[in-house]
Amino acid sequence: MINNQLFEKETSVRDDRFGPAQENGEGEGHSELWTRDGFNGASSMVVRPHYAPAYLSAQGLHVPRRFQIGKLAAPGSDDPSVLPLQVARSRGGVYLSVVSLSLPMPYVVRNVEADELHFVHHGELKFETDCGVLVASAGDFVCIPRSVAYRITPLSGPTQSFILESASPLRLNPQTSSGMINIARDVHYPRIEAPVPGEGETTLVLKAEDGPTIYRLPQDPLAAMAHVYGSAPVWKLNLANVQVGTYLPHGGPPFQFLTSDDGQVMLYTLSARITQRPPIHVNADFDEVVFYHRGPGAWGEVSEPGTVSIVPKGVIHQGPSEQVEEGYLAWLLETRPTLRLTPAALEASVLLETSLYGVHPSEQHG
Ligand SMILES: [Fe+2]
Repeated sequence: MINNQLFEKETSVRDDRFGPAQENGEGEGHSELWTRDGFNGASSMVVRPHYAPAYLSAQGLHVPRRFQIGKLAAPGSDDPSVLPLQVARSRGGVYLSVVSLSLPMPYVVRNVEADELHFVHHGELKFETDCGVLVASAGDFVCIPRSVAYRITPLSGPTQSFILESASPLRLNPQTSSGMINIARDVHYPRIEAPVPGEGETTLVLKAEDGPTIYRLPQDPLAAMAHVYGSAPVWKLNLANVQVGTYLPHGGPPFQFLTSDDGQVMLYTLSARITQRPPIHVNADFDEVVFYHRGPGAWGEVSEPGTVSIVPKGVIHQGPSEQVEEGYLAWLLETRPTLRLTPAALEASVLLETSLYGVHPSEQHG
């Protein structure tokens, strides 16, 4: 059951940033919510005299950070022969990567360890897959299940994609059984196209936990004549077509639309909606990653498209209001495995303050 009543309680308390305790009057305070299993499990709320997300400094790996994917030296822009740049990894089979292609992939890849969910942030890309071809553009999620081979060709750029890998199968699992996603209208599947005559030797990369294995094939493995049985496991869906949900009049937590079979991964829309600001809370079991796709409105201190924020489990945070009249598009990933930024992402990232998700003051003052 969703703990909506607990979110409503927060509406009666102050949410000012870093407000000192002595400014609170008698009987006032800041509610702090602790929850298990994302927004779906046991919960507990206490009232504190201070604003708990505030911190002076943090050293170590389990810290909230933010980075801009456009500022990463992602491979692919001038060297298409390398795999996407990993930005976060875990010991639980969940990985995050960034890729920026300007030339067609010179090989076909088959990830034998994970389902891949590509979020196209910029540009237009052609995905040739084992089960046909589809074209994706900005705002599209493209799901490529484990061991489905694919090759990506940029059609118009610059292109930028953010990739989630999950060892457990990913599937659309909207919180409301109908209405949140118009499956018939908005979920698209690849189509078999006539094979191009004369396609010759091809490199196939099998992507495994311990690195790539390279095969040379005498033909293009993606050439196909017809789909004759079953449903194509590859699909695409645009973020703008995942409708937001709310519990009026107070709002409540965002709505989930995709999960992994083992419950280790959950995706939510975090786009603008009618709601009140989240409570100060501790997510006991899940790291939270927010991808801000585009405005025009800002989400708190986040206004640059392609900004990724990561708040590890157990770190007290609040987050900005999602009620932004101008509108914006964003999504939230929750992962039970603890994510750690890779050196490349760490280098490009800054410490995050967990109220409005701006740059932490300690970064601004050295
Ligand atoms: Fe949260």
